[in-house]
Amino acid sequence: MFVPDLLQGKRVLITGGGTGIGRNAAERLMALGAEVVICGRRTDVLEKTAEELRAATGGTIAWTGLDIRDADAVDETVGKIWDDGPLDVLINNAAGNFLARFEDLSHRAVDAVVNIVLHGTAYMTLACGKRWLRAGHPGHVLSIVTTYAWTGSAYVVPSVMGKAAVLAMTRSLAVEWGPRGVRLNAIAPGPFPTEGAWRRLTPREDLAQVWETRNPLRRVGEHAELTNLIAYLLSDAAGYINGEVVTIDGGEWLAGAGQFNWASALTEDDWAEMAKR
Ligand code: COA
Repeated sequence: MFVPDLLQGKRVLITGGGTGIGRNAAERLMALGAEVVICGRRTDVLEKTAEELRAATGGTIAWTGLDIRDADAVDETVGKIWDDGPLDVLINNAAGNFLARFEDLSHRAVDAVVNIVLHGTAYMTLACGKRWLRAGHPGHVLSIVTTYAWTGSAYVVPSVMGKAAVLAMTRSLAVEWGPRGVRLNAIAPGPFPTEGAWRRLTPREDLAQVWETRNPLRRVGEHAELTNLIAYLLSDAAGYINGEVVTIDGGEWLAGAGQFNWASALTEDDWAEMAKR
């Protein structure tokens, strides 16, 4: 679907790029010609990922250890990356989450998630944004959120609060920075299983299966479907999209929202009876 040099000349920083969605995005973007920098807390994981993706794609990748909760480290690291040339894209992918009843959480547990999802994302966006604005260099921030950024969700409340804020930031800065050439968009993925998230968020295999198939398409997303969307949004073809959140969830959130969606459980006999009435 895409020409092989679709993203040639684009320099992309991916937070949490060592594993999961971040790693998959890095691989796809490299294969399409982008130069990628991944960052994360675990340098051994980053180094291994970089080696593997270089071998798999023949593309260009660098890595740097960074905890995005540390604002000073964020600014210093982004500054060092800029010393080798400006970035074109920041992908805010790093996140933290755990499934827990809110009343069981300590204030430190709330901070553990919000400091990554909200504060870390804000620090990264600020560090890149101010450099783009200062230099008059076009920039694009793509943040990975989720549909509960607007629906809310039980049992992951700190994450809900953080993701809702990231979406609000996206829409706000799209207007504030758009006139100066910096766009912001978001993606809200549904169930795209990754080892880290699935193990972390589902205690039992049977519950994972419920989550995976409760969307109208009755399947999980394929990672290539997600990276297709990321590649498109990063390409020049999507240059007029600003302040948007694109949902890619097989219709999952809508299925949970419609008042009469429960009627998918009706049998042929039920429908015949309804028609008679
Ligand atoms: N349920 C309830 N509380 C929890 C918890 C859980 N599953 N996990 C941690 N906490 C609490 C701890 O008890 C602690 O609170 P306390 O000091 O009052 O006891 C607080 O949260 C901080 O815990 P700590 O282990 O020090 O947090 P951390 O900052 O080292 O790590 C994450 C938190 C989110 C960074 C860590 O879980 C992590 O690395 N996760 C992987 C990344 C991730 O979650 N990605 C998203 C996948 S969907």
